Amino acid sequence: MEFGFHAVLMEKLHDMTLNAQFIGGSEVTTLEARLQEVLHVRHAVTCANGTDALQLALRAAGVREGDVVLVPNVTFWATFEAVVNVGAKPVTVDANLADGGVCFEAFEQAIREAKPKVALIAHLYGWGSARLLDLRELCRKHGVILIEDGAQAFGVRYQGEAIYKGAHISTTSFYPAKVLGAAGDGGAVFTDDAELADKVRRLGNHGRTAHYGYGDVGWNSRLDSLQAAFLNLSLDYIDARIASRREAVAYYQKALPATGIQLMSAPAGYEENGYCNVCLVPESEVKAGLETRLKAEGIGFGNIYPSVMSSQPGAAAYLKGHFGGQVGEQLCASVLNLPLFPYMTEAELQRVVDVVGTMLGGENAR
Ligand SMILES: Cc1ncc(COP(=O)(O)O)c(C=O)c1O
Repeated sequence: MEFGFHAVLMEKLHDMTLNAQFIGGSEVTTLEARLQEVLHVRHAVTCANGTDALQLALRAAGVREGDVVLVPNVTFWATFEAVVNVGAKPVTVDANLADGGVCFEAFEQAIREAKPKVALIAHLYGWGSARLLDLRELCRKHGVILIEDGAQAFGVRYQGEAIYKGAHISTTSFYPAKVLGAAGDGGAVFTDDAELADKVRRLGNHGRTAHYGYGDVGWNSRLDSLQAAFLNLSLDYIDARIASRREAVAYYQKALPATGIQLMSAPAGYEENGYCNVCLVPESEVKAGLETRLKAEGIGFGNIYPSVMSSQPGAAAYLKGHFGGQVGEQLCASVLNLPLFPYMTEAELQRVVDVVGTMLGGENAR
């Protein structure tokens, strides 16, 4: 399927080993240049992982001990954790059931009343918020820096462009299960602002201004050259991988409705990247039954995410407030992710559809 990947990777590893080129170097600079080009961002700064990318973005945005930062209540724990790790106070914002992003009205109220220094949103599932441009504009109007957690969003297009384009600061993760995944951990921060990009780069390299000169207290968050080499190679195949993910999305969109299951999909203006499938099964017994059957059939499934940030035991000591209601809880209780991965075959997709159909007794039940 991806002929040549392994051979080229081995060749790269051989050269890097001979040259003892393990940190920085041409693979990292090439990767950053390619990311800038494909995502239409002026600066791409790679780092050790997607969690660090968020922490670097928060620190570069000037977040200090005690500042308020808005966080979506439905996201991966790292979004919340990053805020706490830089000493800020997280205030959660409820979700919107239609797209899984933040509730715009709750977000607006939080901007006015909680007076955050920075707001975080997360582009989950393979698309972004229907009101992305409104969220960006609102933050601009109020002088709040908006950080967009795009860990799941590589390949997502909004109004024909990469979703990262036009963001004040956005981040991604190269965790292996992501759409553009490394052979280990990795991440990046994207921005059009040269000053922010410099600050991110400095913080992620011990605050260095010279080899033994330190302008900031940062930490070591460099992406290693081996990961960069793997990612550069993966970029050669990424269009084909995303196209195959989108074919799987289209198959599900055509076949799943007849099973009776509710399928979530990208809002208008988006072309999703096929990161994951999202079904909503609000009745808990039905959902449990379906999960038991999928397990018995050897079909993997997920629940991205089973609970909101504000109800995590680890959040209690840090949470400084919540805006909106409990739509996030409703979303988390209903989400069921059916298998979706690159180069999934039609037979694999149809098998999932058949099992769901049999369980739910939709019109295609066999
Ligand atoms: C929305 C979101 N934010 C942040 C992260 C953290 O990325 P990493 O695992 O690379 O630290 C992830 C990855 O799992 C994610 O999905």
